[in-house]
Amino acid sequence: MGPKVAILVGKYGRGSNMEALVRAMRSGQVQASPWLVLAGSDSAPALTLARELGVTTRTFGPSELAQAVVGADWLCLAGYLSLIPAVVIEQMGGRILNIHPALLPKFGGKGMYGSHVHEAVIRSGERESGCTVHRVTAQYDEGEIIVQLRCPVQQNDTPETLAARVLALEHKAYPMALAQVLSDG
Ligand code: GRF
Repeated sequence: MGPKVAILVGKYGRGSNMEALVRAMRSGQVQASPWLVLAGSDSAPALTLARELGVTTRTFGPSELAQAVVGADWLCLAGYLSLIPAVVIEQMGGRILNIHPALLPKFGGKGMYGSHVHEAVIRSGERESGCTVHRVTAQYDEGEIIVQLRCPVQQNDTPETLAARVLALEHKAYPMALAQVLSDG
């Protein structure tokens, strides 16, 4: 069965990274089990997807996150936009990962999510973007980088076309990163 992984999705999240993680665990690419998918709202589309995948789901109210993750060995954030309280980071012993759709430390921080990230990358004239899986700290988008995958930014890219290219990388990077931290112990 391996370590138990809880995946925390956003209120409006599609859940595509959640799905990539669940499939990677089920295929044996990642030696762990998808234990629980959590959201702060029952209407999160990712919860419906998780139920379709046969994963247990749970919603939690403000200040109930610490309680909701009791029993999880790892917590993976996938589209969750709020800061994780220090008490939860401590409780998880630092075993919390997040995925960000750019090459951190650039294009991270408060307000840098979704299309804002890709707009900023295109506006800055960067030739390259990608995604970053990192450990979670009490600050936005900080913490040790585990995996980064890169792709070109094309001259005619819109935030949507760049987001799609980066998302395809995210679905590879997150399982790779989880497998890596698990094998590192
Ligand atoms: C991804 O782009 C991820 O990098 C960011 O939020 C988005 C979630 O997408 N943190 P999805 O719900 O996993 O499809």
